[in-house]
Amino acid sequence: MIGVARSEWHDQEFRDHARGAVLAAWPDVPAEVLDRLCGRLHLVTGDYGQLSTFDALATTLAEHGARLPVHYLAIPPALFPTVVESLSLAGLTTSSRLVVEKPFGRDLASARELNRVLHAHLDESQVFRIDHYLGKESVEDLLVFRFTNSMFEPLWNRNHVESVQITMAESIGVEGRGSFYDSVGALRDVVQNHLLQVVALLAMEPPVGPEPKHLADEKVKVFAAMRPLDCASLVRGQYAGYLDEPGVAPGSTTETYVAARFEIDSWRWAGVPFFVRAGKGLAASATEAVVVLREPPQQLFNESGPPGPARNLLRFVLGRNDGVTFTLNAKAPGPELDSQPVDISVDFASALGRRAEAYERLLGDAIDGNPRRFGREDMVEETWRVLQPALDRPGPVYPYAMGSWGPAEADAVPSGPGWLPPKAAPSGGVAPGSGL
Ligand code: BG6
Repeated sequence: MIGVARSEWHDQEFRDHARGAVLAAWPDVPAEVLDRLCGRLHLVTGDYGQLSTFDALATTLAEHGARLPVHYLAIPPALFPTVVESLSLAGLTTSSRLVVEKPFGRDLASARELNRVLHAHLDESQVFRIDHYLGKESVEDLLVFRFTNSMFEPLWNRNHVESVQITMAESIGVEGRGSFYDSVGALRDVVQNHLLQVVALLAMEPPVGPEPKHLADEKVKVFAAMRPLDCASLVRGQYAGYLDEPGVAPGSTTETYVAARFEIDSWRWAGVPFFVRAGKGLAASATEAVVVLREPPQQLFNESGPPGPARNLLRFVLGRNDGVTFTLNAKAPGPELDSQPVDISVDFASALGRRAEAYERLLGDAIDGNPRRFGREDMVEETWRVLQPALDRPGPVYPYAMGSWGPAEADAVPSGPGWLPPKAAPSGGVAPGSGL
């Protein structure tokens, strides 16, 4: 494992740093494992702008007999083209793989240009575009849940589904990443990649087979059927205090919150809105996708009690405490035929045990040359096409208080029951839209 950085460190400082980081995250790591790992770390120092850095990397790789290296570009996005060209000039792209961190471009034109640069030096089969949500077991579960449980497929369409809501709420702010985040914003940071991938997994047709190509083909069909984002159903927000974060430009209008309505023009989904919201500095941390089923055609009961029955919900918890909850109605205790919502829940950690971390799986996949959990060129370009109107005409950015659920303007985005409070939200919290 060879690091490339501008620092003045030698191998030993790099190894000490890695040892400290691993021990901080995993104090009980077996000593021999950690020793073996650290013994394999080396550092090449140099500037990414200088070809000599890449020649030194080539020499170090040769010294260690590396035959099929994986170059992992966790670097500022603006440097991707320079680094790829330099790797190529140093003869390091012919027999290698390249992992590119997100964001992959900042709009459709720059994503196309980046793909052009990559393809000038590498074959698509050598390129691995990281989206760590694709490495989450809970996100992959959407695929397995849908296509291994035949009971849901008859419901999974416009006849039974009223809407779909996807929430990615983070209580933290930008946490020292102000200058990176300010040039990106929530739409580019998490919607173009993580959340549209979740939409695709929920909306796609069954793949014709299990191969990476089969999955990617179906996802691309979903994105291709998506209408360009209508700016009238987009609300952007910025938490109070964001402008004081180090690295944020004075007067910045970058959004730390976004709520939007996506439409998929397909036989399965025409007329079913997919509501997506994501934000930092919110009241809770929770990532969820909720499939909201239509109300029964007649309201036979609940004459005396609360309005109801509640809509059936199928809630996929994708973040911490991941699992699935099905909200049904049962007879409320008492003399009347009133209904009351009840949950059937599975907590995956208790039911299934430890699952691997996203990056553990993704870097392993790249080493194995398996593209299944990575973004493909056409997929990435289609998602930018969908977002492009919002990038061209972003509209106003509304302020919201840290610890709230975003700007009040966003409450008007979803139809039906309004935003559903995430399951992980604190009780008695300020989650709006609980009017089921
Ligand atoms: C990253 C974003 O891709 O995902 C961050 O750049 C965000 O801004 C993070 O905080 C969230 O990831 P997770 O796995 O905690 O949902």
